[in-house]
Amino acid sequence: MENKTVENVLITGCRGGIGRDTAIALANLGYHVFATVHRKESVEELKAYSKEKAISLEVFKLDITDPEDRKKVLDLDIDILINNAGIGESGSLTEIPMERVRKNFETNVFGTLELSQLALKGMMKKDSGKVIIISSLAGRLPLAFWGSYCMTKFSLSAAADVMRQELKMITKNVHVVTIEPGSYHTGFNQKVMATKYSWMNDSSYFSKNIVQIKKNEEANFALLERKSTVSIVKQIVKAVTTSQPRPRYSAPWWQTAGAQFLRILGK
Ligand SMILES: NC(=O)c1ccc[n+]([C@@H]2O[C@H](COP(=O)([O-])OP(=O)(O)OC[C@H]3O[C@@H](n4cnc5c(N)ncnc54)[C@H](OP(=O)(O)O)[C@@H]3O)[C@@H](O)[C@H]2O)c1
Repeated sequence: MENKTVENVLITGCRGGIGRDTAIALANLGYHVFATVHRKESVEELKAYSKEKAISLEVFKLDITDPEDRKKVLDLDIDILINNAGIGESGSLTEIPMERVRKNFETNVFGTLELSQLALKGMMKKDSGKVIIISSLAGRLPLAFWGSYCMTKFSLSAAADVMRQELKMITKNVHVVTIEPGSYHTGFNQKVMATKYSWMNDSSYFSKNIVQIKKNEEANFALLERKSTVSIVKQIVKAVTTSQPRPRYSAPWWQTAGAQFLRILGK
């Protein structure tokens, strides 16, 4: 680890999954971790979990779509922001209700960007810091019936690339990093998959295909999802601990290679 002093890391969406596992890994490495959660009721839950594991986490509510919650970062000396919070809407883009797409963008893209801008204020002032954005391999390779989610992740990857290029002109010490997880069994994909069945029904263009779509998705995720988040958490830890991080980190390697290969083929 290249860091010499205790650095402050703020992570969004730490109720479980990749966010919580990353919070634990970084706390174990000696970072001061602000492990934030979407909802008030998750604060005590995560505090109890960290106590049980004897890990020191500073837990509070930060809904990234709430302007008042976002302002909390202004009072903290954040060295590293990890934008992990996210939601997903699935279903055909040809007919998905637009309010679902808007909500998806409001959280994943606008919430993340606004929070990053606020955290960057402090980082730019001290000319040091990292903004890490958890995008997805779905931000490289679009998937049918996951259009809304994929669009938000493409946008996030673009946002990170643009901010990185811009900041390079004025500083060598503030970094923007993209993390691209493949499929991990955190429950997230199942939640996203299910959203479409609350509105894609008998009147859908795809009403005759719905059973097959569900079968295919379940089979694909059963095959692809990694049980443990260790491989992606390792990549996030690399991005945090390296003084000159790469633009992007991804895992598992074989899903990254597969996504790159399909991209080259123009899929
Ligand atoms: N699992 C995968 O296969 C996979 C693959 C690629 C990328 N990712 C990305 O990895 C990140 C973490 O996902 P995960 O798999 O670990 O699933 P997860 O545990 O469901 O993580 C998502 C977190 O975001 C929180 N969240 C949702 N809306 C929020 C808001 N407005 N403000 C603050 N927090 C909010 C959720 O809180 P509540 O549950 O309390 O609402 C949850 O804790 C997400 O950005 C996801 O897109 C996951």
